Amino acid sequence: MFGWFALLSMLAAGIGLDYWRFRRNHTEENADEPVDFSGWLAARAAALTGPARLESAADFFHRRIIQPYPGWWKWVAAALAAGFLLMAATGLGFAVIGVRLQGLPLMAHVGLGAVFAPSLAAVLIRRARAHSPTAARAGLKAGLFWLFILCAWLLIVSALAMMLPVSSFRAQINLFHIHRWAALASVLCAMAFLAVTAAGPRRDA
Ligand code: HEM
Repeated sequence: MFGWFALLSMLAAGIGLDYWRFRRNHTEENADEPVDFSGWLAARAAALTGPARLESAADFFHRRIIQPYPGWWKWVAAALAAGFLLMAATGLGFAVIGVRLQGLPLMAHVGLGAVFAPSLAAVLIRRARAHSPTAARAGLKAGLFWLFILCAWLLIVSALAMMLPVSSFRAQINLFHIHRWAALASVLCAMAFLAVTAAGPRRDA
C-alpha cells in the first residue's frame, strides 16, 4: 500500500512539477518550444531517455547544485546529494517493490547515514542564513529548504530511535512508519526544490 502510494505520488509530483514549469516559462520568447503540454512532456521524456541524458543530468547537477558552493564545500554538497539519492533509492526502492529492506542493501542504507547526516548538518550551517525567512529573497525555495531539513531531521531521529534498544515494539513500528513517510515527504520536497531551481527566475519577469 505505502509502496504504491509512494510510486504514484512521485510520478504525479514529477508530471505536476513539469506542468508548473511549462506554464511558468512558456512565453512568446520561446515560441520554438512545443505549445501544448503533451508535446512538451514528450520532448522532456525523449530528453530523459535519449543518449545525452547522462551529460545533461551531470551538467544540471554541477551547474545548479555543486557550483554555487565555494572550494571544498562542493564536495560536501556532492556528498549530501549522492548520499540522499542512494538512501532514497535503497529505502523507497524496496518499499515500492514490497520487500522489506534487508541484507547488504540495508547495511549500505545504514552506512550511508554516516555520509548523509554530517553533510546535511554542514550544508544546514552553510545555507541557513541564505534561506532564512527574513532574507531578502526568501520565498518558495526557502520554504522547501526548511521543509526538507524538517523531514531529514525526522528521518535521522526515527532511524536512531529505531536502532537503539530504548522503545517498545509498538513504538518501533510507529517509528518505522514515521521514517517511511518522512522519506517520501523528503523526496517530494527535493523534487520541488530542484524544479524551482531548474525553472530559475520568470522569463517574463
Ligand atoms: C541517518 C540516516 C538514515 C538511517 C540511519 C536509516 C536507517 C534505516 C533503517 C535501519 C531502516 C530499516 C528499518 C526496519 O526495517 O525496521 C530504514 C528503512 C527505510 N529507510 Fe532509512 N535511514 C536513514 C535515512 C533515510 C533516507 C534519507 C531515506 C530516503 C529519503 C530513507 C528511506 C527509508 C525507507 C523508505 C525505509 C523503509 C524500507 C522498507 O519499506 O522496508 N532512510 N532506514
